[in-house]
Amino acid sequence: MTFKEDVLKALNTQKTLKELYSLFPEHSRPSIRGVVYKLANAGKVTRIKKGGEVSYVQSVKDIDEERSQDKTHAKEEEERKKDTRKTPQPLKPLKPKRLKKKSIKKKPVSPFGMDFSYAPEELVPKGVEYFPQSNETKVLTYAVKESKNVLLEGPTGTGKSTLVEFIAQEAGAPLITISCDVELDKIELLGKYELKDNMTKWIDGPILKAMRDGYWVVFDEINMAKPDILSVLHSLLDHRRQIIVKEHKNDVVKAHPNFRVFATMNYNYEGTSELNQAFKDRFGVVLHLSYMPPKQEIKLLIQKTGIDNSKALHMVKVAEDTRDLARKGEIPEAISTRTLVEWASAVVTNFTIHEAAEFTVLDKVSNEPAEREDVYNIIKNYFGEKV
Ligand SMILES: Nc1ncnc2c1ncn2[C@@H]1O[C@H](COP(=O)(O)OP(=O)(O)O)[C@@H](O)[C@H]1O
Ligand SMILES: [Mg+2]
Repeated sequence: MTFKEDVLKALNTQKTLKELYSLFPEHSRPSIRGVVYKLANAGKVTRIKKGGEVSYVQSVKDIDEERSQDKTHAKEEEERKKDTRKTPQPLKPLKPKRLKKKSIKKKPVSPFGMDFSYAPEELVPKGVEYFPQSNETKVLTYAVKESKNVLLEGPTGTGKSTLVEFIAQEAGAPLITISCDVELDKIELLGKYELKDNMTKWIDGPILKAMRDGYWVVFDEINMAKPDILSVLHSLLDHRRQIIVKEHKNDVVKAHPNFRVFATMNYNYEGTSELNQAFKDRFGVVLHLSYMPPKQEIKLLIQKTGIDNSKALHMVKVAEDTRDLARKGEIPEAISTRTLVEWASAVVTNFTIHEAAEFTVLDKVSNEPAEREDVYNIIKNYFGEKV
């Protein structure tokens, strides 16, 4: 087979240039250019595609150009490769690091499962110590979890307020107290219009604010409240948990889910009345606090004031005796835990037992000289005559 025949045959079979080459005996292989020339001379116009595929070519010049282009390309490619080895490459743009979310210190959800992270710090009680009389912290924990209104009954100074403050502290709940004395009227409770920059604006009273913002509320001495106040509270304390504010466009204010109600009620107070049954029924939990067991009360006195053990023991005995007298109706008021704390605090700051009793105990118990005398005699029983 002649060269020409071979090439023509190869062309007809659309072989690649490489394959075409391989058709020639090694010793007589022409250059690629030579092949193309030969083809051209043979009357076949061929074209060599990149990659060596033989197809159509118009002139030898085209081939030359194409080859030189290929060469420069190859050269450039080679140079580029060298460059990448030598010259330092521009730093790859760093993958934008996934920024760690700034760990915002989240207030822990309270053991009551309630989130009070919105609560103003200053409204959450702190540093409250409560000495239980019985299972009252358990009962109040239940009430809070089950969203029951709580009524705490008992003589003054028996720790009713302290107990609620303690529970609020444990829950991390904001707590406000509304004193239900005779001064409390609807305006003070619900709010009022105020003139500001020639405009009248409604300002929420404490109860509406607490309802909207999810605070806990203590209605202190609720049995002192006037009937119109109690009637406002009716719909708040039942399943409706709302107040319709007639004074403000009949605005329907609904309680926040974290809103809770506590109320305290003292006995033996002038001006107090029994709560009517319909009102009392609205409290799912009614807890009676009495005076704490003597051992607990002694412990409380020592811990709170630093008074010595034997004085604490005798003071508690004095208090117990006055509680007996009060129960019998012989004196209007007994010595409460609060009064004991005040008495002991005065004693540890250098007053004698008798001196301190005069300004912490006697006035609290009675204004009647005869009744004061009775209490003074009890003090003498345990502490002897004034020295
Ligand atoms: N169980 C108690 N635990 C701790 N402190 C108590 C307790 N009971 C009474 N106190 C003391 O007596 C004071 C009056 O208690 P408080 O809670 O205000 O009584 P109440 O609200 O029943 O009138 C408190 O400041 C506290 O020092
Ligand atoms: Mg109180």
